[in-house]
Amino acid sequence: ARFMNTTTSAASLPPGTLGLPFIGETLAFLRDRNFARDRAARYGPIFKTHLLGRPTVFVCSEEGCRFVLANESKYFVVSWPPSTRKLLGSLSLALQTGGVHYQRRRILAQAFQPRALAGYIETMDAICCSFIERWLQVRSLAWYPELRQLTFDIACKLFVGMDSGSHNELGEQFELWCQGLFTLPLNFPWTRFGRARRNRDWLLQQLEEIIRKRQESDDPGDDALGLLVRSRDEDGSQLGLDELKDQVLLLLFAGHETLTSSLVSFCLLVGQHPDVRDRLLAELDRLPDDAPLTLESLQQLTYLEQVLQEVMRCIPPVGGGFRTVIQECELDGYRLPEGWGVIYQIAQLHMNPDRYPDPDRFDPDRFAPGSDNPSQTYSYAPFGGGLRECLGKEFARLEMKIVAVRVLQACDWTITPDQDLSLVVIPSPRPRDGLRVVMRDRR
Ligand code: HEM
Repeated sequence: ARFMNTTTSAASLPPGTLGLPFIGETLAFLRDRNFARDRAARYGPIFKTHLLGRPTVFVCSEEGCRFVLANESKYFVVSWPPSTRKLLGSLSLALQTGGVHYQRRRILAQAFQPRALAGYIETMDAICCSFIERWLQVRSLAWYPELRQLTFDIACKLFVGMDSGSHNELGEQFELWCQGLFTLPLNFPWTRFGRARRNRDWLLQQLEEIIRKRQESDDPGDDALGLLVRSRDEDGSQLGLDELKDQVLLLLFAGHETLTSSLVSFCLLVGQHPDVRDRLLAELDRLPDDAPLTLESLQQLTYLEQVLQEVMRCIPPVGGGFRTVIQECELDGYRLPEGWGVIYQIAQLHMNPDRYPDPDRFDPDRFAPGSDNPSQTYSYAPFGGGLRECLGKEFARLEMKIVAVRVLQACDWTITPDQDLSLVVIPSPRPRDGLRVVMRDRR
C-alpha cells in the first residue's frame, strides 16, 4: 500500500537539490562517476535532481526499481535522452511503446528463441577463435578495442550476414555513430551529434541495400535478418523497409556496446582474481575434449554462470534506465509528478549492502545455488525487467559464455602494470586505458 497512485497527493517530493537554473546537475551527472552513490548516501535511495532539461528522480532501492519496472505503460514510459532518440530512430523497438511495442517485441524475439540461439553457436565460436589466434601472435595488446571488434563482427555476421564487419567502412561509420548517442543534441557539422546524424544516414543506406537484396531473394536466409524479413505478425502484416532498417541498427548497437563492456569486465576481474580463474579452469576440465560447444554443455558450467553474474553485478554494462512519469504516483511516501524524468539505477541497486555484504568485493559465491541467491530478486537487474527487459539477454549470456570458455582455455593473461584501470562509464563501462594485457598460449 506504500506504492499507491494518488491523483491528489499530499505527499512531499523526494529529497535532493535541483542544482543550477536550466542545466541543473547535468554536468556533474556526466562527469562524476559517484554522482548517484554520493547523493543516495546523503538523501536516501530515492532522490530528486535536475538533468538534461527536466527534474528527474533517481530510484536506487530494490522496491523502487520493482515499482518502476512493473508499472511500465501505467505510471511510466521509456524515454531515452534526445540524442539517443534521434540517432536510434523512431521505429526502433527501444522507443516504441504500448501495443506497437508489444507486437514488435514478439516479432524481434524470434531471432532470440532457443532454436535460433543454438544456430548461432558455431559462428560465435569460429569468430572468437580466430580473434584469439591473432591475440596470441600479437601477445601484448589493449583488449577493449579488440573485444569491440569481436562483438561487432559477431553481430554483423549473425544479424546481417556480413563478414569482418569491423574491418570495413560499416564498422568505421558505426563507431562514429555510437559516439554521438549520449551527447548534447546540437546538430552542426562539427559536433559529435551532427556527425553521428550523417553516419546514421550512411548506415541506413547500407542497411537498405542489404535488406532489399534479402527481400528480393527467394531464400532470405536463416540468420536474424532472414527471420525478420520473413516474419509476420498475427494479422499477417510484415515489417516495412524503414522499420527493418531502424530495428537492425538497434540490434547491431545493442548486440555490441553492452556485450563488449561485460567481456572486458570479465577479463579484468578474472585477471585480478587468480583463485577464481583456477576454479573456472577446473570446471572447464570437465567439458568433453574437442566436442563442439552446445547449449547443453554450456549450461553445465555453473561456476562460470556465477562468475558472469557477479561481473555484471559489480560492473553492470547498463547503469540504469530512463523513464518519464505519465501519471502522477507515489513511491515510498514520495510524490512523483507527471512529466518528471525517472532513472532506475541498476548500478546502485547492485551495491546494496543488505543484499550484498561488503558490496565492493568481487565474490562469485554470492550467486552460489541456494535459496538466498539474489539473482531471483529485484536486487539484481543487469538486464532490466518487466515489459522492456533486455530482448537480447539469452544471446548476450550465450556469447559471454562462449568467449569466456575459449579465452580461458587458450590464454594466460597478465594485466600490464602502470595503466589506468579506472572506469569510463558512458555509454558502457570500460577501463580508461583499454585494459592492456600480455598474453601467453596455455595450450
Ligand atoms: C534492453 C541490458 C545485451 C537487445 C535492455 C535493457 C537493459 C539491457 C538493462 C533495458 C533498458 C530499459 O529498461 O530501458 C543489456 C546487457 C547486455 C545486453 C547488460 C549484455 C551483457 C543485448 C544484446 C541485444 C540486446 C546482445 C541484442 C542483440 C536489447 C533490446 C532492448 C534491450 C532490443 C530494448 C528492449 C525493449 O525496449 O523492449 N538491455 N543488454 N541487448 N536490449 Fe539489452
